[in-house]
Amino acid sequence: MQKLAIQGGFRLNGEVRISGAKNAALPIMCASLLAADDLHLDNLPDMHDVKTMVRLLQQMGVRVAEQVQGATFNAAQLDKLEAPYDMVKTMRAAILVLGPLVARFGEARVSLPGGCAIGSRPVDLHIKGLQAMGAEIHIEHGYIHATAKRLHGAHICFDLISVTGTENLMMAAALADGVTVLENAAREPEVVDLANCLIAMGAKIEGAGTDKITIIGVEKLHGAQHRVMPDRIESGTFLVAAAATGGRITLTDARADILDNVLDKLRETGARVEVAGDRITLEMNGRPRAVNVRTAPYPAFPTDMQAQFMALNTIAEGGSIVVETIFENRFMHVQELQRLGAQIEIEGNTAVINGCEHLEGASVMATDLRASASLVIAGMVAQGETMVDRIYHLDRGYEHIEAKLSALGAKIRRVS
Ligand code: UD1
Repeated sequence: MQKLAIQGGFRLNGEVRISGAKNAALPIMCASLLAADDLHLDNLPDMHDVKTMVRLLQQMGVRVAEQVQGATFNAAQLDKLEAPYDMVKTMRAAILVLGPLVARFGEARVSLPGGCAIGSRPVDLHIKGLQAMGAEIHIEHGYIHATAKRLHGAHICFDLISVTGTENLMMAAALADGVTVLENAAREPEVVDLANCLIAMGAKIEGAGTDKITIIGVEKLHGAQHRVMPDRIESGTFLVAAAATGGRITLTDARADILDNVLDKLRETGARVEVAGDRITLEMNGRPRAVNVRTAPYPAFPTDMQAQFMALNTIAEGGSIVVETIFENRFMHVQELQRLGAQIEIEGNTAVINGCEHLEGASVMATDLRASASLVIAGMVAQGETMVDRIYHLDRGYEHIEAKLSALGAKIRRVS
């Protein structure tokens, strides 16, 4: 198993290009199932989840021609309308094939995702929505089996805001008969990126980016070309790393307009943040100030940035409170941060952090994708060496992270 060995105490300095967004790339790749023509995607990030999605689509019969930072997908003919358990359990986003398959082929078999490190994460909203659109759904042998002659439009109000739920139903509705209205929809920028790709494919969608999305179903979609948006979570992760190490970095190919909340929090820590076009520069002099964080659906503070800010708060000046409102078990990194000397107490969904002068390097274990990123940040500020184990979590969603951090001056290497 691979680990990262990190020597702490080096400031980050320099420029780093932000990759395409994982959470936009995955649903957009699934959108290729909706048409018989080529869908060409640029700015696809090179990471495990994207590779897993390519394999899943190929197993179904999608032809994939990979290029540098891009790929062309062709789903003219499929021979298997199934997402098997071994793929869905490693990548929950595989559920995103469900809507497109039922909408275009009238059938899908998708494994239930089961539990995962950050909570039970059910998919009931995806299922209920498709049922409202006329799909027959049976759960058998751990699989969701959905069938429909043709889906029809429906008025769907989500009980809870779900990002992939919104995306799955938006894709299904694009080929349904009639008008679908999604209320209490997710407003995440990745939903907007998917909608833009679908519109380029001929879909009729209004309101993406608001909590009410209207989709007028069309007979068929066609091929298109789309550039995947920049990853706002990768952007935030590098900026927090620079703030924690007292560095100065510039992100290129980034988007500040979708990072408002994160940039505001970084300014609160005492960092200077400047935006010029697609470049974001952060400079931190001295020790950061602790900041309180409360996660909530976009445009509020993202749950995917909670662990990284927690790492920063552990060495910040003052105390802070971090409240996680999206997932019930997303404090797995706390025990590991405590191994580095962090002072954190948890009560329910709230963590109380007492910032300390320094952390001390130790062996720690990554438990999920963003928790891994927080351990890497903590390792970069800790004294001595930190060994982060189980970094396959990190490789799922960050493109060449140790190469990018090394280029910025971090002392980080991969060991087997
Ligand atoms: C997506 C992101 C993930 C991010 C999360 C929240 C992708 C591929 N992943 O995950 O990185 O952390 O949004 O911003 O885009 N829920 C239900 N029933 C459902 C669906 C969700 O109860 O059918 C609950 C979940 O358990 C969770 C909450 O709703 O508590 C939000 O989850 P959701 O937005 O669906 O997360 P994902 O789309 O899986």
